[in-house]
Amino acid sequence: MYVNWPDHSDTHFGSEVLLAQQNVSMSDLFEDDGLAHLLDHYPREKLGIWTFGEESEGLNSSLRGRASKLSGKEIIDAVKRGQIWLNMRQASVDVPELMPIADTIFDSLQDATGRKIRKRDLSVLISSPNVQVHYHLDIPMVALFQMRGEKRIWMYPREERLAPSDYIEDIVHMKREEELPYRKAYDDEATVYTLRPGMGLTWPQFMPHRVQNANCMNVSLSSEYQTLNSFVQANAMYTNGLLRSATPLSPALNDNVGPVSVAKAAFARAHKAVARRGPRVSPTPVTFELDTTRENCVRQLYG
Ligand SMILES: [Fe+2]
Repeated sequence: MYVNWPDHSDTHFGSEVLLAQQNVSMSDLFEDDGLAHLLDHYPREKLGIWTFGEESEGLNSSLRGRASKLSGKEIIDAVKRGQIWLNMRQASVDVPELMPIADTIFDSLQDATGRKIRKRDLSVLISSPNVQVHYHLDIPMVALFQMRGEKRIWMYPREERLAPSDYIEDIVHMKREEELPYRKAYDDEATVYTLRPGMGLTWPQFMPHRVQNANCMNVSLSSEYQTLNSFVQANAMYTNGLLRSATPLSPALNDNVGPVSVAKAAFARAHKAVARRGPRVSPTPVTFELDTTRENCVRQLYG
């Protein structure tokens, strides 16, 4: 099993999108039976189940669901027929068969970039044909690998205009999901990558992006991680959020990690310790049940 990154990964990491080649996608775990096995061995209450509408101008929100009664095989059938996006967060912790894959991915990043790769978190994403993930950004670093199907990912410049600092701060403070206000005109500034099995990529922290599946079920691995720099940046944004709400200041993201960022990050760590902040909890309530008897496999729970 291998994941290969370009020769210039050490010098271009953190400032440019890097493309990888891999053969992790050859694993039987990503065939239908393997996916059903993963879902049956993953704690159902941890499974993230989402559905997204059309991408339109402004802030696009998503709906969160649950699948309390279905088997893994039934969930895969629902994904093939519906408009569903599944996220098995920290899957390698709960399903040991994924651990060698997680190690291969994160060790490859560490070797290629020369950075210590911390807070390793491998998620399995299983999504319906034509589903799109709205314009958003992620707080940790992410490497995305394609196991099955085909998708396009639009990567946008990391600029205040496209990803306002106050939004990033709210995401860090868990006041909102990762979605950002979208404008169609932003697409003119995007670089579009087509991902097929055997491919992968990683991008600079906080870089906005959106994803569109081709007309086929998709299986991808989302590998979240932190380097020392990305960890400092995420915590500095936490402190910036506190400053923005408690003072007249409008602090912006500083691309260069220096003494000020480190001091802000240290303050954030102390603040979180006092606030006894737990793991990230979605601010979006569960409003639908995955139901294979419905045409689109979604049954609204309320209203
Ligand atoms: Fe993302």
